[in-house]
Amino acid sequence: MASTGVLPHVDLKSTYDKHGWCEPPHRFSDGAVALIREHALAISRERRPEVVHEKDSGIVRAIHGCHAFDEVCAALVRHPYLVELAEQLVGGPVYVYQFKVNLKQAHEGAAWPWHQDFAFWHEEDDMPRPDAVNIAINLDDVHEDNGPLIAIPGSHRLGLLDLPEGRADGEESDWHSHVSFNLPYTVNADRARALAEQSGRKMFLGPQGSIQVFHPSIVHSSSNNVSANRRAVLLITYNAVANAPAYPTRPAFLVSRDTTPVERRADERLDLQALHDPEASL
Ligand code: SIN
Ligand code: MN
Repeated sequence: MASTGVLPHVDLKSTYDKHGWCEPPHRFSDGAVALIREHALAISRERRPEVVHEKDSGIVRAIHGCHAFDEVCAALVRHPYLVELAEQLVGGPVYVYQFKVNLKQAHEGAAWPWHQDFAFWHEEDDMPRPDAVNIAINLDDVHEDNGPLIAIPGSHRLGLLDLPEGRADGEESDWHSHVSFNLPYTVNADRARALAEQSGRKMFLGPQGSIQVFHPSIVHSSSNNVSANRRAVLLITYNAVANAPAYPTRPAFLVSRDTTPVERRADERLDLQALHDPEASL
């Protein structure tokens, strides 16, 4: 039976703390995914700063901050299941720090090099600690060839790796690079290879609507989409209210200024089902 209900009591936190990722046992229904996708694709056709294109092509790479202006995205970030999950993993009230949909278009969607999200949030926004969590929702079926996210289990416990020498005080970096292939904070490819040899690689594969969760400090990447299937993934970053940066300077669609705790609000359009047994109730 489909439900908008809250997270059942499952121990995701110990997996998350140990490996830096976890996979909740429910997914959004096909109807919910269709609605979210419809809204995301409509936004991607708009001309606005929140819509970012691939280098050298007019193809849309990502859309940002949509929870602030789109009612379906706004409803999604308040979904009781997601808020409960985020609060459980972060350990207290949370607000939405970032919201984006990376579209990874068929044949054209470009890679993301090895990196740690917290490097950006710490270095650019002055987020004090990695007390945040990324919740990814697959808006398409994700398989090995359409550029899945790949993470190195346990790497979230290594701290920030390979940070560049500090910027001159007061010098502002160009946020456009933070949403492109040419990221300023990357983890050295040889180091990532060695880490992966030691600890393995976790590929975030799953049907549309499935949910994956990963830590701000986990080393992750994704490759070009070499398939004929788009790989749209929606990512919500919830940050602990107590961990809000004091004076962020990047645009509000990359760093939300509204740090009030998210209130849970059920929306019957955004229903869930068990990942492996669609008939099972929550
Ligand atoms: C990310 O690193 O935040 C996203 C990468 C991807 O969409 O593949
Ligand atoms: Mn990332």
